[in-house]
Formats: sequence, structure tokens, C-alpha cells
Amino acid sequence: MPRGRLGHAAYHRLWPAVSGGWPRLGDVTDGLFIAFEGGDGAGKSTQVALLRDAFEAAGRTVTVTRQPGGTELGQRIRDLVLHGDHVAPRAEALLFAADKAHHVEQLIRPALRQGDVVVTDRYTDSSVAYQGAGRHLGAQEIHDLNLWAVDGLVPDLTVVVDISAQEGRRRRGTVHDRLESEEDEFHESIRAHYLAMAAGNPERYLVVDGTRPPEELHEQVVTRLSAMGMLP
Ligand code: TYD
Repeated sequence: MPRGRLGHAAYHRLWPAVSGGWPRLGDVTDGLFIAFEGGDGAGKSTQVALLRDAFEAAGRTVTVTRQPGGTELGQRIRDLVLHGDHVAPRAEALLFAADKAHHVEQLIRPALRQGDVVVTDRYTDSSVAYQGAGRHLGAQEIHDLNLWAVDGLVPDLTVVVDISAQEGRRRRGTVHDRLESEEDEFHESIRAHYLAMAAGNPERYLVVDGTRPPEELHEQVVTRLSAMGMLP
């Protein structure tokens, strides 16, 4: 599809219209794919765990995973990119993309194929936000790179757990990995980018306020998934 150099948000909005739908793998049928996104310290992992319990209570088989590090190779990439020495920004983007490519082929796609619910703590939007916006590598380019890496697999729903950079820093305390230790400005640009992606494509995103109690956020996620017919 010729798309010229549309901004990321415009591309997000236009794609379903011109292509007749978001790309899904032809062989993925019964599975359900949900991603949690947000700044560091937003409380995503609590939400991932609560959602797993809700799906299991509804009788579904759930695969919970995360990026980077959802596979053995991914775990090694995670160590390199989060806990090693300086990594050139483009190399950082490619390493995160490599983690995703392997993760989707080895774990996410097979689970979806057998009808599981897959809940991932971070997915492609993390890279669009952190490398595209945070590292100024270009949201469009990073979006394209990631979509190629995951062979077009887009979540049924992406939940953005929204918190300010300041609140995220407060919650993280003194433990910081390479990305977490970036300035607040870096984290604010990531936050703004998440919100822009969600605003550009509301039917594929849910934004929840990460400063509210975890149970309240979980209720909002369940309400949305019920409205989509994915939970009772
Ligand atoms: P992690 O410890 O998993 O943090 P969190 O609990 O906040 O998810 O670290 C993941 C870090 O890697 C986080 O700072 C975001 C960053 N990241 C990217 O920069 N690009 C990516 O594509 C992904 C998946 C994560």
C-alpha cells in the first residue's frame, strides 16, 4: 500500500480504511491478543496478573508474557539492551525488534493458533514510543520496522496504563535500568506518544489512569473486553 510519509497517527487511522482491516495472520483464528503498555512504573504487571485471573475464571487458557524477554533468546537480548553498556539507538531499536520477531514466531503465534488468550506486558507500541519518540528515531520508521518484525500481528486490544513521568520515577524508587534512568523529558515524550497513538485509534486502545486503584483499572479493562464480547 503506498502511504507516502504520513505521520504515525494518520497512518494508524488510515490503514484499516484502505486495506480493509488491520493485518492479522490468516491462520490465527480463535486466540485473543491483548497488550499492556505504559511508562515505567505504571503498574502494568498488576493488571496483567488480574486479567489472567479473569480470563482463567471464564474458562480460557491464558499465556502471559512480556517484552523484552519472553523467550530464552529474548532474555539474552533483554540483558544486553537493559543492563549492559551504552547501546547505539539504532542498535537498541533493532535488538528490541529482534526480541519481538522471535517472541511472536516462537510463542505468541503458536499460542493464538491453539486458541489461547495471550496477554503481553509491552509490545510494538513500546518501541514506537521509546525508540521512535524517546530516542527520536522516527515513529513511522520504528512502527514499520516493528510491524515487519512481528509479521503484521496487531493486538485485539492495547491497554495503556497512563502515569506521569514524575509519578513513574517516584514509584520506581532507586532501581533504574538503562531506559528508566533517562530524564523526565524522555518519559514525558513517551507518555505523550502513547496517548496520541490511543487517540488516533480508539477502537483498538483503552487508556486507564494509572494513579487510580488497581481494582478500579481492572474493572475498566473487564468492562471494555465484555463490550467487545471477549469476556462474560
Ligand atoms: P521492564 O523491566 O520490563 O520494565 P517495565 O516493568 O516498565 O515494563 O523493562 C522494559 C524496558 O524496556 C522499559 O524501560 C521499556 C523498554 N522498552 C523499549 O525501550 N522498547 C521496547 O520495544 C520494549 C518492549 C521495551
